[in-house]
Amino acid sequence: MTDGTSGGERRTSLHGFWSSRFTFILAVTGAAVGLGNIWKFPYIAGQNGGGAFVLVYLLCVFGIGLPIMMSEILIGRRGRRNPIATMQLLGEEESGSRAWGLVGVMGVMGGFLILSYYSVIAGWTMAYVVKALSGAFAGASPEALSDQLDGLRGSVLQSGFWHTLFMGITVSLVALGVERGLERAVTFMVPALVVIMLILLGYSVTSGQFGAGLEFMFQPDFSRLTGDSILAAMGQAFFTLSVGMGSVMAYGAYLPQETSITRTSIAVVSADTAIAILAGMVIFPIILSNGLDPTQAGMGLIFKTLPLAFGTMTGGVVFGPLFFLLLGFAALTSAISLMEPAVAWVVERWHISRASAAITVGSVVYILGFATVLSFNVLSGFTFWQGTLFADIDYLTANIMLPLGGLFITVFAGWVMCRNSTADELDEHAGPTYRIWRFLAQYIAPAAVVVVFLNSIGVFD
Ligand code: PHE
Repeated sequence: MTDGTSGGERRTSLHGFWSSRFTFILAVTGAAVGLGNIWKFPYIAGQNGGGAFVLVYLLCVFGIGLPIMMSEILIGRRGRRNPIATMQLLGEEESGSRAWGLVGVMGVMGGFLILSYYSVIAGWTMAYVVKALSGAFAGASPEALSDQLDGLRGSVLQSGFWHTLFMGITVSLVALGVERGLERAVTFMVPALVVIMLILLGYSVTSGQFGAGLEFMFQPDFSRLTGDSILAAMGQAFFTLSVGMGSVMAYGAYLPQETSITRTSIAVVSADTAIAILAGMVIFPIILSNGLDPTQAGMGLIFKTLPLAFGTMTGGVVFGPLFFLLLGFAALTSAISLMEPAVAWVVERWHISRASAAITVGSVVYILGFATVLSFNVLSGFTFWQGTLFADIDYLTANIMLPLGGLFITVFAGWVMCRNSTADELDEHAGPTYRIWRFLAQYIAPAAVVVVFLNSIGVFD
């Protein structure tokens, strides 16, 4: 183990740096806020019975997700390379083992898999911009809206087209090297999304079922918690914060040395959580006031319910397209972060240009994406594990790969790295925040992940 302070004659990033702490916060917020908050959180929370799930989710976000985000950023900044090389390098430096690089490998693979379906769903949001513009929501019934979604996802051609377009845009931005320029755009896109959601909240408040919606979301009914729903809550915490697979680690590699990792992480985690909770407060009352069942709505939830609001509220013709457009943009900044570990790795490993790396990585992801496109039509009857192919990929990545990656990351930062190294990065040698972080990273986060895993396979029954 090397002494942390001398072990780094400070390394430098091969891909440049964020220009300020603020751009870094924007970049990580852009990575974190996406479909996970607005599309996934409400349907997963609904599926798992609401209140108790939300409580476990919040505990996981702050007790596990936050210390892991800090660990990822500090590891990334210390290594200053792509996640695979960084884990190899620090593994060697701190423990003499390059095998830690495997954590980076799993992360890169996780990124491929997540992005493959993420692009399909993001494609649907783009399709919904067009639908909203064409007035397809005006006065539509829940059944009609459900049919509209089925029409889109049931068609290989349509769903495939939007997936192609979304991947094309993502790859082009990364290839052109303008993706960093996007971070500024987050300054108004995310607030604009929040404003539309607040307008939708106004609609929900007057829907007649606002109280019932809040009750569903916040009133814990612990009898609804199963081992698998606790696992889903933990998986969702990892997914929504983008931790456990190296995205945040890759971004940390470009972080200037003087920026506070603790404050940055707290800001990002709080914003991400607030947006997810807001999405839930908007959606559950709308579901209930339309006589729908939140536990049965499934992954099509927002596409079937939010248009009900846009179709009846004043200004819906404007807010509808704008909402799906902004959601698509939020998805784009997340998609870029999903590619970053792989792209940075390909550039460093094979010394090819960023453009070629983006096209290579993007092509693999694009092809993989057809597993998801087809899982709602041609292959919808094909089930062998969690359900459709989409459900399998989602479960494997969010519920297994991310928590496992996070477990290794937190064990590495908490136990393998020497105290000097981590204290040096967190710049808090004996301060209380450092001690809290270390306690969470060493004990709480690893123990929680292990217990939730064991519980989900029925060890404690
Ligand atoms: N956090 C993103 C979202 O909520 C998804 C994501 C997961 C992005 C993992 C990067 C890494 O939409």
